[in-house]
Amino acid sequence: MTAPTLVKGVTSAETIHGQREYLLPSMLHLYDEPLVLDRGQGVRAWDPEGHEYLDLFSGILTTSVGHCNPRVVEATTEQMKRLGHVSTLYATEMHVEAARKIADIAPDLLKRTFFTNSGTEAIETALMMACLATGRSEIIGLRVGYHGRSFMATSVTGHSGWRPLATPVAGIKHAKSPNPYRCPFKQPCDDTCVDKFVDDLEEVIVTTTNGRPAAFIAETIMGVAGYVVPPAGYFQKAAEVIRHYGGLLIIDEVQAGFGRTGGHWFGIQHHGVDPDIMVMAKGIANGAPVGATITTDEIAHGWKGKTISTFGGNPVAMAALCATQDELRDHDAPHNAEERGAQLRTALLEMQSRHPWMGDVRGMGLMQAIEIVKDPVTKEPDKDGPTS
Ligand SMILES: Cc1ncc(COP(=O)(O)O)c(C=O)c1O
Repeated sequence: MTAPTLVKGVTSAETIHGQREYLLPSMLHLYDEPLVLDRGQGVRAWDPEGHEYLDLFSGILTTSVGHCNPRVVEATTEQMKRLGHVSTLYATEMHVEAARKIADIAPDLLKRTFFTNSGTEAIETALMMACLATGRSEIIGLRVGYHGRSFMATSVTGHSGWRPLATPVAGIKHAKSPNPYRCPFKQPCDDTCVDKFVDDLEEVIVTTTNGRPAAFIAETIMGVAGYVVPPAGYFQKAAEVIRHYGGLLIIDEVQAGFGRTGGHWFGIQHHGVDPDIMVMAKGIANGAPVGATITTDEIAHGWKGKTISTFGGNPVAMAALCATQDELRDHDAPHNAEERGAQLRTALLEMQSRHPWMGDVRGMGLMQAIEIVKDPVTKEPDKDGPTS
């Protein structure tokens, strides 16, 4: 491919300089000197100087059908020319069509969607929805879970590195994360540990809440924590526990959704459990700012007060969503992720047999990770990275 020329002559150094002057300093970058990206096509991206990169991170698991996918570009351009904005105070067919497409692939009883502009906002919607439907206010999350960047989302996030507030929102508790590689109960972790993780969830409810939780929220694969996959049986038993205490099961599919785990559209479908509320974002619309919260008819009717969103359900964002979903469906994304994921995993396992610093290989479908350790027996994390 030919290297593009500098856009308007602005170099990476100038962009970084501008960023340091005008944007929030707490914004995390993957490198001390942030990579400036200027153009993308499919799985490739270029910096302003024309260096080409293979984009394995896809804007935090988001460009699910590739940078500047022609179908998405055409759909959004056409929609932009036709009608760019109305707000949720008006109805558009594009909004309805987007909701229909999500309901078509979501677990059975999930039917009614509220669209927002980010995963964080979709999480906020899910938590409020659970509180309104149950008439309760206490929420249980997992200790290394990540759910976004608002007051409520950082509070329900258990991962300490992502909790900037000294005093988070009250009424939120965290149960032990079901992490088989670092199982606190038994090494190696086995089937008996599932009950212990679920017992811990129950103990958190009984001993640290008023016993009337509104919901338990969890990712099907804990993404920010390093693709931690809960053991088989965990979600079924956790669902039984939270429902026993009258609470709802909220599943965060922001990272794992849309075929990425292979074989199914959503991670929770591997576990034979139907959530009460499910949250999606990231890959839903290939980078258009869309978050979605889907629930059952009954729970949706539990939201008695009024609600609006200025940008939620925006026709251009919905056009991006519809085109992305059509593209994922036409390419059978779950099947593709299953096949390519198996190929990736086989290669990673082979590498692990040669490199002791690869402490763990884990994941599902194309969500695969390695955990880098100093020693495979002690499992001491190696933050500096391997030397061989
Ligand atoms: C599992 C999960 N939930 C929620 C969010 C929040 O999404 P957003 O960054 O779009 O607000 C993220 C973002 O990384 C996430 O990984």
